[in-house]
This record gives sequence, structure tokens and C-alpha cells, in this order.
Amino acid sequence: MAGHIYLGSNLKMYKTARQTQDYLLNLSMSIGDLSRRDLTVFIIPSFTSLDRARRTIHKGDILLGAQNMHWEDEGQFTGEISPLMLEDLGVEVVEIGHSERRHVMGETDAAVNRKTLSALAHGFICLLCVGETAEQKALGLSDETLRTQLKTGLWGVPTDSLDRLWIAYEPVWAIGVGGTPASEDYADGKHAVIKHCLSEMYGSVAGRVPVLYGGSVNRGNCDALAAMPHIDGLFIGRAAWDANAFNEIIRAVLPVFQRKQGMVK
Ligand code: 13P
Repeated sequence: MAGHIYLGSNLKMYKTARQTQDYLLNLSMSIGDLSRRDLTVFIIPSFTSLDRARRTIHKGDILLGAQNMHWEDEGQFTGEISPLMLEDLGVEVVEIGHSERRHVMGETDAAVNRKTLSALAHGFICLLCVGETAEQKALGLSDETLRTQLKTGLWGVPTDSLDRLWIAYEPVWAIGVGGTPASEDYADGKHAVIKHCLSEMYGSVAGRVPVLYGGSVNRGNCDALAAMPHIDGLFIGRAAWDANAFNEIIRAVLPVFQRKQGMVK
């Protein structure tokens, strides 16, 4: 959505339910004074922390997300979590196709598509993650990779669900320990590719879909990323797992986003 700022963290396989609760209490207290009119803050903890997290945060204060979801409502899928289970827990956002799901757990574009369709059909906000590997980048296939992931991931997604679609651009080589953050110019260029592809697929309504950058965002590079014209938000791992550190990043980038989006002069 134009003129709105999205800032969130994926807690990956870190933090027990108790640790997640402490983190969320700290975070909601630190950012309690910030207006949510133009700002959405979201946290995506582990499945086992979701129930505790739901009881800890107020709706509309911090949006609650899940890191993955099976596409079927129920079935013989040992170890999987269904959309009905997430609905039951009051989850609002479902993250689909994170790089660690695709490249460590072997999730295919076809599976990502089924999950995306199911998440949207169940009324969740779907945070679809895309990004090229270092090898694809070296071969000059980054744009093709992003376009393929978008076109296969969003196959069959109707225009009227675009209001609940968010995209995260997370280059695989930039994520996690050992990752190299993308330069702001590189990231912005790929956001432009993503936005162009979405507008080819959906026309002007695609302008409503926010595209967030993720991959080694930290206090040192967050301002420069936030200032880029095609970046609508930040999706942060390690640098946001301490509530005070995330609060600092949020306060640093908010005025940058606001100025860029013309909310303040
Ligand atoms: P890092 O910020 O730790 O690189 O992780 C980013 C990420 O994977 C968010 O989903």
C-alpha cells in the first residue's frame, strides 16, 4: 500500500515461548508511543511461541505471523501445520517460501504456490519471499529468477486478494550469518524488477503490494535502504532479535520512509 511502512522480524528457530513473550513485551512497550496509522510492525515467531505471543500482544499493535503453513486444512501430513490451526491461534500473517524453506528444506516453487493460494484463501496476509542465490546472481540470472518465483508463486492468485499480499525480496547470499548485505542500489534495482513483474501480471492494482527488503539489515545500513524509492519496508532477522535494537532501527528508519513517501516535509 502506498504511503505505508512495513517493519518486521522473522525469529526463525530462535526463542522459546517465554523468551518470545519477554521480547514482545519489551518491544511493544518501546514502540508504544508510535502511531500505527502509517506503520505496520509484525513479528513472526516459532510455531510453539504463537499462542503465548497472541496472548501477549494486542491486535493492531504488532501483527503476528507464522513462518510456514501446509496448504491443506487437515490430513495425513505428520509434522505440518494447517491454516485452520493458524486461524485458531489468531495468526494474521503467513510467511511463505523463505529462503531457508526453499534452499535448506527443499521447498519447490509449486509447493510455494499451493501455500500462497491457501494462505490467501483463508484470509491471511501472505508474505511471499523471493530471492536469487549467489550462483544465479553470478550467472546473471537474478531478474529471471525473481520473475520465475513471482509468476509460479502467484499462479492463480486473483487480483482481489492483492490487498493481502506482501512480497519480501531476500537475496539468498545476503541472509544470515556469513551473508553479505545487498547494497541499497542493488536491492532497489531488484525491487523495481519485482514491481515491474507484478504490474505486468496485475496492472496498476499491483501498486498496492508492498515489497520489503530482507538480508543482513542492521543499524548501519537500514537508513540507506529505507531511503530507496522502491523499498516499502524492511524484514529483519538477527539485528531485530533484541527488542531495544529493533526499537532503535524502527525509530531510525521511520522518518526516512516518511520523508520519502511525502508524509512529512
Ligand atoms: P538476517 O537479517 O539475519 O540476515 O535474516 C533475514 C531474514 O531471513 C528475514 O526473513
